[in-house]
Amino acid sequence: MIFSEDQLDELRKFECLDFQSTVSFKDGCIDDFIKSKYWPVAVQEDMIVRTSQQIKHRSTVIVKAYIDNIFNKNFLDFGCGTAHTAIEASRSCKLSVGYDPVRHQYWTSQEAKASNNCMLFNDFDEVKKNGPYDFILLYDVLDHILPSDIPAAIDNIISVCDSNTIIKCRCHPWTSIHGGHLYEKLNKAYAHLLLSEEQIIEHQTIGTTRIMKPIVTYRKLLSKLNVVSVDPVSIRMSDEVKSILSDNNIINRIKMVTGGDAEWQSSVLPYEYVDYVLRIQ
Ligand SMILES: C[S@@+](CC[C@H](N)C(=O)[O-])C[C@H]1O[C@@H](n2cnc3c(N)ncnc32)[C@H](O)[C@@H]1O
Repeated sequence: MIFSEDQLDELRKFECLDFQSTVSFKDGCIDDFIKSKYWPVAVQEDMIVRTSQQIKHRSTVIVKAYIDNIFNKNFLDFGCGTAHTAIEASRSCKLSVGYDPVRHQYWTSQEAKASNNCMLFNDFDEVKKNGPYDFILLYDVLDHILPSDIPAAIDNIISVCDSNTIIKCRCHPWTSIHGGHLYEKLNKAYAHLLLSEEQIIEHQTIGTTRIMKPIVTYRKLLSKLNVVSVDPVSIRMSDEVKSILSDNNIINRIKMVTGGDAEWQSSVLPYEYVDYVLRIQ
């Protein structure tokens, strides 16, 4: 890794480096360095959604980008979470249904209640009664479903499709720069691939499914659906991020956690998101 003079000064303070041989981390020192200001961020600070206004803004962006032209159509937000997106979509479609096995407290808010063509369910039978749907969205959901529950979730989705249904699925691979969902508490690039299990749990805001080989695994999971298009969105890695990913100590640490090799790493780590457009077969 190429360190700047500032970084080297900081590292000397941490006594992280073994200057006798090549520049390398001593055991246990990587953690301090990750947490220091010298480690690159996972997400630009102004992109982190924290306030209710930001959550609402995010939902308008999602509706515009994923579910345009839904006038007079039925829309299902599968794994809707807070339901902001389902509520936002209800402004422009005939019926908007939000489904999530977990009821979020926002579902009972005045805003949620004020929308008369938006229904929110945690019972999939209710979702079925209102189907089939013209558009289905899975936004950052597949990577949060327990692996054992994924086949049932896919079958549920299929049960509310007809031959015209368009499904849009945004995946947020665990292997990506912020795929561990630590960024609200510890906004550091790839921290979830480098820190100890205890530290990951301490900083993680929601549970994530550790899908090591995202592209192959998503293809398998979605094989009952017809993939119309795939759009892997790579991050534009800053020189700082490229630099940490070219360091042997970091590579070895990631290898240890993931069992992946250098080829795997270079093919997977740059994917920030993978978007699918799907129909039933
Ligand atoms: C990261 S959140 C995303 C929420 C929402 N789509 C958004 O983008 O704001 C993942 C959601 O998936 C939901 N989820 C977990 N298991 C699920 C399942 N088996 N079926 C549907 N949703 C599930 C979680 O309850 C959670 O609300």
